[in-house]
Amino acid sequence: MPELIEVLSATEIEKKISDIAKVISEDYKDSDLVLIGALKGAFIFLADLARSLSIPSQIGFVGVSSYGSNTETSGVIKLTREIDVSIKDKDVIIVEDIVDTGLTLEYIIDYLKACGPKTVKICTLIDKSERRMVDVNVDYACHRIPEGFLVGYGLDHAEDYRNLPAIYHLKLN
Ligand code: IMP
Ligand code: MG
Repeated sequence: MPELIEVLSATEIEKKISDIAKVISEDYKDSDLVLIGALKGAFIFLADLARSLSIPSQIGFVGVSSYGSNTETSGVIKLTREIDVSIKDKDVIIVEDIVDTGLTLEYIIDYLKACGPKTVKICTLIDKSERRMVDVNVDYACHRIPEGFLVGYGLDHAEDYRNLPAIYHLKLN
């Protein structure tokens, strides 16, 4: 049976998002901000982050997939959904659930930059550093961990566990 070990409680997640939202609200107070969430993992984080900001923002989504049902990246990233808002001359923050190798983020950055934004920065719920393969600059991170496969709060394993309100380390025995 898979084992779930709590890493962040719902209350801890809420506090971390509130802290980062204060910083982003200050940094973007005079901007044309668009939050672009990476589906599907970032959907809960983006919803909570957007409501914690004290400044206006537009919201869009991009769909990418790389993992299939494994716990290791396949390394092949596919665009599964194009963005649905214009980001031309806008200040974009990519909202990711978790950055691991950085390959997904690198793909999204290249895709979005081709759409003519003014600026592109990155905000991730979890920054997992151990397996980083490309040097992506994470501008805002709620929580940093060295390793482990996490689920809950939008994060899945083979589409399970996204609904959990807290974040857990998944141990497949
Ligand atoms: P990367 O391309 O290796 O940086 O992986 C990024 C994507 O893989 C994230 O957007 C997640 O969807 C997924 N991912 C990476 N690590 C985990 C994890 O620990 N749990 C669940 N999904 C993960
Ligand atoms: Mg993702």
